[in-house]
Amino acid sequence: MCGIVGYVGSQQAVPVLVEGLTRLEHRGYDSAGLALLGTTGLKVAKRAGRVRDLSEELPKRFAGRIGVGHTRWATHGPANDVNAHPHTDAKGLVAVVHNGIIDNASALRQRLSDEGVELASDTDTEVLAHLVALSEADTLEGKVSDALAAVEGTYGLAVLHVDFPDRMVVARNGSPLIVGVGEREMYVASDLAAIVRHTTTVAHLDDGEIATVTASGFTTYRLDLTRTAHDTMTLDVDPTAYDAGEHDSFMHKEMLEQPAAARRVLRGRLDERFGTAHLGGLNMDARETRAIRRVKILGCGSAYYVGQMGASLVEELARIPADAEAASEFRYRNPIIEPDTLYVAVSQSGETIDTLLAVQEIRRKGGRVIGLVNVVGSAIARECDGGIYLHAGPEVAVASTKALSNMFLGFALLALQLGRVRDLSIADGRRLIAGLQQLPDQIESVLAQEETLAALAGRLAAAESLFFVGRVRGFPVAREGAQKFKEISYRHAEAYQTSELKHGPLALIAPEVPTVAIVPDDELTGRNVAALHEIAARRGPLVVVTHEGVDLGEVDAERVVVPKNERELDPILLTVPLQLLAYHAALALGHDIDKPRNLAKSVTVE
Ligand code: F6R
Repeated sequence: MCGIVGYVGSQQAVPVLVEGLTRLEHRGYDSAGLALLGTTGLKVAKRAGRVRDLSEELPKRFAGRIGVGHTRWATHGPANDVNAHPHTDAKGLVAVVHNGIIDNASALRQRLSDEGVELASDTDTEVLAHLVALSEADTLEGKVSDALAAVEGTYGLAVLHVDFPDRMVVARNGSPLIVGVGEREMYVASDLAAIVRHTTTVAHLDDGEIATVTASGFTTYRLDLTRTAHDTMTLDVDPTAYDAGEHDSFMHKEMLEQPAAARRVLRGRLDERFGTAHLGGLNMDARETRAIRRVKILGCGSAYYVGQMGASLVEELARIPADAEAASEFRYRNPIIEPDTLYVAVSQSGETIDTLLAVQEIRRKGGRVIGLVNVVGSAIARECDGGIYLHAGPEVAVASTKALSNMFLGFALLALQLGRVRDLSIADGRRLIAGLQQLPDQIESVLAQEETLAALAGRLAAAESLFFVGRVRGFPVAREGAQKFKEISYRHAEAYQTSELKHGPLALIAPEVPTVAIVPDDELTGRNVAALHEIAARRGPLVVVTHEGVDLGEVDAERVVVPKNERELDPILLTVPLQLLAYHAALALGHDIDKPRNLAKSVTVE
């Protein structure tokens, strides 16, 4: 998705902006640009392609101590130099960078052309530059407020104006924007990654807020320019988390960080004495917790699949009916919001627009929502009634790994707490706690099989199409395995319930279509092995992710053996090897692991 970085201070802005844009590259983009306010007015450089290409071709004397940068992900019009941000008005007085989508852009473009304005690009953003320029307000804040009054849609944006050379004005509605505080210098960004080298003291703008940012500070307003108060917070983030170090990709680094991340999410939250979990952030007392009759989990993509694992945990441990739903679909079916349902939004970034809008829909209808969120201070975290921070640390790779493992653990903690105010015995609670305590080391032992998995992945990568199959607890594992495989290897990978194979997809099983089957040692092992026989009979190659001692009979299969934990906690251990399979398949195919085509890290537009 698009990225924004801005700087106001005494340094030259270009190095700060270029470094910031480079750190936003992982979000996915197709063009990049910069605008500076210098002694000779407004200067803009932009082009399709990489940030490196842009910085290598910057004009000489491209200088200024206030500026904005942008990485664009094309929505309106193709990825070319003209459509890249920043956009300017006809006289080159105003520059705007914008994330989000202006829904009434066509009407505004028509209105502007009727007024004689010539539009240079195909974008929705350009209208903002013209609207700011046309406003007759005396202040830049007033001009931006006028422009935004005409606009419907989502935005995180930053505006420079030649007549106001000491400031930039930024605004947020549905697309993240933070202001970073330095020593007599200030930053803005759509993602902390862009400015983390300079500051971790930030203010998160709320939807419907405008801010003036100068070298000495910032002031916030509502859209009607009445003042708002804003605290800053200093985030506990290690800036080196945004470096891949000796790893070839962030995905690789983040997969290997899973044991440490898992220890962090569990730390201080396990109560062995009472066999339960401490989750102070839920903001619910025992009576409120007991009153919950249903749990509804909402997330997108992989977060949705882990949500399905979470629903199983809640049903198994707390015996409360639970299900997960794609947040992107939820609000479009006019959902019934029940007072005794606990809604759970799950998101790494905390900025996924579909999940955020689902949360807002529930809250509008009076429902209680908690968040399982990784990014502290993110929009979803702030919108929820309470929650569980995932403490996975910054996740940079588009393909989510460590945050997903911590989501699973977050659900295990939630299910444990819900269970222990109901019928889960103290002995069972302690059994689960012992299992949770073992998990980080067990994840480590799965990661230690990387070499074997790499060899296997090399063979899977040769197939154009694959199946991932599992049953009950194993099905979301298969879905996540297929998701990870397809998003970075670009191979067609389809997840199915093993039990459904006979009802259609078995027709596709053939020597050139491998199946990765999830076959844990549980009450369904026999059924799963029977399905393997059916696949083998059609000469479908098989990779079986399983436990020690599972008897596959005569089936000819490559085995990946993961350690056994409590059966409720097994799904996460069965998932980790699938991450490594996807990663090594993509590597074998020569793909850019951290920037998979067409995908972005946090999806902040619908
Ligand atoms: C897959 C992946 C995506 C995200 C999804 C939700 O590897 O990363 O499917 O899981 O876009 O993102 P968050 O968790 O930030 O809401």
